[in-house]
Amino acid sequence: MCSEINRHKNGTEWRNFYGRFKGKSLSPAQSEALLTQYEKYSLENISWDENPQRKKIKLSEIFREKSVWLEIGFGGGEHLIHQAKLNPDIGFIGCEPYQNGVAKLMGKLSANPCQNIKLYDGDVRNIFDVLAKNSISKVFLLYPDPWPKKRHHRRRFVTQEFLAPLYETMKPGSILRIATDIEDYVRQALQEVPRAGFQWLAKDASDWRTPWQDWVSTRYEIKALKEERTPHYLTFIA
Ligand SMILES: C[S@@+](CC[C@H](N)C(=O)[O-])C[C@H]1O[C@@H](n2cnc3c(N)ncnc32)[C@H](O)[C@@H]1O
Repeated sequence: MCSEINRHKNGTEWRNFYGRFKGKSLSPAQSEALLTQYEKYSLENISWDENPQRKKIKLSEIFREKSVWLEIGFGGGEHLIHQAKLNPDIGFIGCEPYQNGVAKLMGKLSANPCQNIKLYDGDVRNIFDVLAKNSISKVFLLYPDPWPKKRHHRRRFVTQEFLAPLYETMKPGSILRIATDIEDYVRQALQEVPRAGFQWLAKDASDWRTPWQDWVSTRYEIKALKEERTPHYLTFIA
């Protein structure tokens, strides 16, 4: 992930995005779920095209719940649904640009609807643009893309380009959870996240080794465990 802003010849802006929007073809059931369900859950008016002035959105008009939590890159959405069901009084924004992930979640939501979820199928930076300061009460960044090559570390989420606007959108005293199985990602997170204003809450090693009490393993965590990589659970306060 990287956040340079570029300009087309006609003056319009675009951002570099190094993730994937599309993977292998969707199954007929996934396409159907995406077509019939997504609109119901969509957080509208936040893409650059639809909202060129990047007007702030009013969360109180979108959610009847008072507090709003954000999951960045929800993958197949297993953790997002788990948290939304566990916390019916919280509104959830799930952000995932990868269409196959969104389609997977749509399949789950058509079988098991969740009223307190809204989705955005694009780059989370577009959400930061339109969220008011101090509006989000908890953020989950679970197994973000590792970008293992050194020259690609600047694409990681744990860079100031992502962390500074994230910090602005979070309420003072709110919690940022990061899970990763990549040791070098932990190093960069512990260096960069505090630089953005957060404080790491760990007191001893058990803090980052022990999953959160309300945790459910994501697809990437299951893969990491199978491949014998160690999950790290980092908790920061804004
Ligand atoms: C390694 S996957 C982890 C998925 C899921 N959290 C899990 O643990 O199974 C990282 C996810 O982050 C998403 N992602 C990448 N760049 C993003 C961005 N700029 N905004 C939001 N999500 C992004 C990817 O599409 C991908 O699904």
